[in-house]
Amino acid sequence: MATATLPAHWYTDPTIAEQERHAIFAGNWALFGPEHEIAEPGAYVAQVINGWPLVVLRDHGGALRAFHNVCRHRAAALLGDGAGTCSRRITCPYHGWAYELDGRLHLAPRFGEDLDADENGLLTVRVEIWRSCVFVCIDDSAPDLTTWLGSIPAFCADYPETDDLDFHGGFTVEGRANWKTYCDNTVEGYHLPFVHARLSRAVEGASVEIKGHDDGRLTCFHVSYRGDGAALRGNTGLWFYRYPGFQAVIGPTGFKAERIEPVGARDLRSKSWAWYARVMSPEEAADSFAWAESIVQEDLGICETVQRNLEAGAYTNGLLSPAMEQHTATFQALVRQDLQAT
Ligand code: FES
Ligand SMILES: [Fe+2]
Repeated sequence: MATATLPAHWYTDPTIAEQERHAIFAGNWALFGPEHEIAEPGAYVAQVINGWPLVVLRDHGGALRAFHNVCRHRAAALLGDGAGTCSRRITCPYHGWAYELDGRLHLAPRFGEDLDADENGLLTVRVEIWRSCVFVCIDDSAPDLTTWLGSIPAFCADYPETDDLDFHGGFTVEGRANWKTYCDNTVEGYHLPFVHARLSRAVEGASVEIKGHDDGRLTCFHVSYRGDGAALRGNTGLWFYRYPGFQAVIGPTGFKAERIEPVGARDLRSKSWAWYARVMSPEEAADSFAWAESIVQEDLGICETVQRNLEAGAYTNGLLSPAMEQHTATFQALVRQDLQAT
């Protein structure tokens, strides 16, 4: 039987978007970026993820650390967004509070003895690594990263580790669509022949098998390639989506990791990073990278038309095909469950 979609207003309502940030995104791990950007002592990357300004840095002892990028005095941003190198300490640009790279408060000018330094260190965020990718998690009670990844490492075990690949680069795509509009689309293959012409030519239609795992939190597309562009992807591969915002494409010739995140109720950001096997020529790697970005653009292009119509008011609910969109139904059930639990 067909399932009703989520109501249209769930894709436009700022109150629901704010509930989702806490009930869904805070308790899950988020892909922060590649580890090599934070390799040297003092190196940091600061960025806003799912509405939280965060910084991940390498301290002078070599440990990776993550903090909210917020001063404990009156909440100024400590570091500008982007990559950089900390000097010995992090000094707030507002009134000069200084923090050690392990987060301890070192100095609060003119506060004297009134201030308990132990109580006023930086707010920590959890940080772990998988396949050269840094992941962060806001919620201290969430499971560790390995547990959260569930079946993913086992599914990826047949493919080269990122250490055996070359990092190629990253790209960011921003668009006017709720994050769920994009994820509804991510977990179904129904749109593939209509939206992705080149990808459809490279995929053996009968050999895309979509399966749900880990209580529906993981959706895997097991794919065989043929024809146009197939050589860039190897013969077989895996596309997977891990609720709520981690997506990847992996195969014998490369790995692409993507973070999908809400930007308020009506916008989203997708950030991707790609690694390629050394057997690929620079031209092949560049073609594959441009192709990967065009797939995200194709998805976002159709999602922006959906979003416009969800906002317009004529459409309130639709139907999901039991044969072709059962994973979209599962995704929407997870969203309902997480929001009702708050
Ligand atoms: S807000 Fe950072 S020192 Fe005042
Ligand atoms: Fe797509």
